[in-house]
Amino acid sequence: MDDTRPDHVSQTAPDYRLGVGGVMLREAWYYALPAHDLTPGDMVHRTLLGEPVLIGRGADHKIFAMRDTCPHRGTLLSQGQFDGREVECAYHGWRFKTDGQCTAIPSQCAGQRPQPQDIRAQTFAVAEHQGNVWVFMGAKNANLPPVPEVPAIGDRLQLHVAVTFACNIDLAAIGLMDPAHGAFVHRSSLWRKADSIYEKHKAFSPLPESEGLGWRMDRHTASRNSRAYSLFLGGAPETEISYRLPSVRIEHARTPKYNYCGLTACTPVTADITEVHHVMYWDLPGAAALRGIIRPIAHRFLDQDRRAVMSMVEGLAFNPPTMLVQDADTQTRWYYRLKREALAAQTEGRAPRNPLTPVTLSWRS
Ligand code: FES
Ligand SMILES: [Fe+2]
Repeated sequence: MDDTRPDHVSQTAPDYRLGVGGVMLREAWYYALPAHDLTPGDMVHRTLLGEPVLIGRGADHKIFAMRDTCPHRGTLLSQGQFDGREVECAYHGWRFKTDGQCTAIPSQCAGQRPQPQDIRAQTFAVAEHQGNVWVFMGAKNANLPPVPEVPAIGDRLQLHVAVTFACNIDLAAIGLMDPAHGAFVHRSSLWRKADSIYEKHKAFSPLPESEGLGWRMDRHTASRNSRAYSLFLGGAPETEISYRLPSVRIEHARTPKYNYCGLTACTPVTADITEVHHVMYWDLPGAAALRGIIRPIAHRFLDQDRRAVMSMVEGLAFNPPTMLVQDADTQTRWYYRLKREALAAQTEGRAPRNPLTPVTLSWRS
């Protein structure tokens, strides 16, 4: 099916809920938390893709991640002690180095089995990059794909907000990427009015293979009804947006003087709960004061998206017929198409192939 020029929709259009049904794509980097949340000696629990993950920072400042269940009896290791070098389980005091190697089993007499050298806790590949901690959820720990990266504008993370969506990753992802909801969901007298809608034409191209499976909205002058940017950066900003599976959207807006980058990443907690992270970077002066102003606005924005998606989830519970329209819903089709391709490639043990080709999409928003 041609995703860019679908038939004028009808009730027989493919039902987007059937796309990939919230499958949690493995062998991928997922956003875990901002790096500044972990100081040396800290460890926290996260549930990622239904798996318990302990994420910590050692005395050597290095981030590590291991399965957050003790190999002995399953106790959460993150509820034990961490001295910056070894994690000690709260139940019977087994100790583990940050690479998962067990170093102590206090109850064992000499000659009994197992001994510490026989035991390893499972670890996960982690990356600390541009102020973010990413965890690789998969079996591989070598030849990993590149960690999502925002264009370098000083690599200084200014702000992180997170909101939990009570739905699967697909509904969260397509809810956030939707290009036609802004004037209604994010209505604001300051930067967005419902009657400000006008026709837009945007050029898209597939991401280069090195950047993963996804697409890019080519650099263009920011919409005149997205006043948030011009208010923030001044002038007439140009913006470029990339979208990459499993669900990382990176937006870079710039004027000749200033830059703004936003990274939005959906991380499934479980099949039915998704954590949406939004990270902002900018190089305007007065960062600290701006943070105070922007944090509640960013949070409100994300929460507006959450409420819109939750309302859709409530409606979908009645199993209504739904449709995808031409071209405003094309990115939703692409998302599912690429995700199906990623899953097929994994099943068939091959590299995924991006089926998208450059195209201009038109919609009113
Ligand atoms: S459960 Fe962890 S040491 Fe026994
Ligand atoms: Fe939105």
